[in-house]
Amino acid sequence: MKENLKKTEPTPELLDIGLIGLSVMGRSLALNMADHGFQVAGYNRSPEVTQKVMEEHPHHNLIPFFSLPELVSALRRPRKIMLMIQAGAPVDAVIDQLIPLLDEGDFIMDGGNSYFGDTNRRAALLKEKGLRYLGVGISGGEEGARFGPSIMPGGSREAYESVQQILETIAAKTKNEPCCAYIGPEGAGHYVKMVHNGIEYADMQLIAESCLLLKYAGGFTNRELADIYRTWNKGELHSYLIGITADIFLEADDMADGDIIDHILDSAGQKGTGRWASIESLKQGVDISMITAACNARVMSNHLERRQKASSLIHAPAVTAVEDKQAFAEMVREALYTGKIIAYAQGFSLMQDASHRFGWNLDLGTIASIFRAGCIIQAEFLNDITKAFLKYPELESLIFDDFFLSRINRYQENLRKTTGLAVSSGLPVPAFFNAVSYLDSFRAKASGANLIQAQRDFFGAHTFERTDRKGIFHHEWRAGHEV
Ligand code: 6PG
Repeated sequence: MKENLKKTEPTPELLDIGLIGLSVMGRSLALNMADHGFQVAGYNRSPEVTQKVMEEHPHHNLIPFFSLPELVSALRRPRKIMLMIQAGAPVDAVIDQLIPLLDEGDFIMDGGNSYFGDTNRRAALLKEKGLRYLGVGISGGEEGARFGPSIMPGGSREAYESVQQILETIAAKTKNEPCCAYIGPEGAGHYVKMVHNGIEYADMQLIAESCLLLKYAGGFTNRELADIYRTWNKGELHSYLIGITADIFLEADDMADGDIIDHILDSAGQKGTGRWASIESLKQGVDISMITAACNARVMSNHLERRQKASSLIHAPAVTAVEDKQAFAEMVREALYTGKIIAYAQGFSLMQDASHRFGWNLDLGTIASIFRAGCIIQAEFLNDITKAFLKYPELESLIFDDFFLSRINRYQENLRKTTGLAVSSGLPVPAFFNAVSYLDSFRAKASGANLIQAQRDFFGAHTFERTDRKGIFHHEWRAGHEV
């Protein structure tokens, strides 16, 4: 059987691109390319997977290969190979196998969720070898990969231009424009994908918190929740994530009576891209507290037994009763929209800082524009974010954009009320909470940092600046004042 699998049919002509890694995302992307007329050489480390893909998804433009040397020799020069494999060591292992098989000017593209620091390192290594490397962020899950994802390619512009036609053809389209654009050098594409995922975490957390409030304070049933999210999805909150949320609440369980949502364990997984964004923000000194809160919310959700124990030991406040359910839902909607603005503002600030710090010259308007379709965070208001950065490419924060500022000023009262109600009812809303807290830190005339500086100078002579004169000062503090 194995012998049979390894036999490769002779290929009549050289193929356009090689795709290594045929699990869900790789297979879907290969079929997307094949649908668009590109001849794809497909390979998976386990030949059984390749065989299964060919049996279940036969396509005249997808040709299976069972060894890397055969795949490489079947490609048109300069050869283009896309890796769709697990991030981390497997990417290095495949690159090591490919290097001796490739010639100067050939391409390797990594379409996985790789850490941007790894992409920086790999790009430098491949440059030394005369090969071209692109770190390509791809978002959209299985459906996006199959029918049009949002694509964030990073590397040299010249390398991008050589594969531009393939990537732009397979990308999602919005207003006839491809959701794919050159992002910047080195690991810039993977960096932007990391921030995309961080925003995705915050967005999902905000929606989960809105649901918690609607269900436990508002008393909405699953059916009513579906109606609420469906209605919201027709307005300014229109987005992929709100749309699937409405669908989720309508899904019957196929293994038990009732709705499937009520049988899903209340413990969230994570593969790490949101956490990378959070770690990176601390290194860069940019506050993305809502994304960090969303990571922590998933971590806290995992402690099921401890939560059970604590819920019987720590007295819960009475949940504030809601009188007018529709007015309550509208309050939560405005809070969600405001929280969303702040989460995206945080994510875009992180990218803006990286752009300056790493000299990547990121075009935030273009980045927002390629998030408008294909990706998980696609949303109506990405049109407004695109407009904001097109108007002022160096906009210091989305919060300063006239459109978003007017929304914040109109809705912030309901963000505060929603958060307050959750706090007084004992419902955990870390994303809402951090949205309020970020907004108040962002607009604070007085932040309390003068006292921090005094304390630092008191115990460690760390010095401080003054409000009334220039310079660096140290004060001889006296301990134990008599009051
Ligand atoms: C996307 C998604 C995709 C994946 C996440 C899930 O843009 O298509 O973000 O990359 O679904 O990695 O991440 P977690 O497992 O960490 O939630």
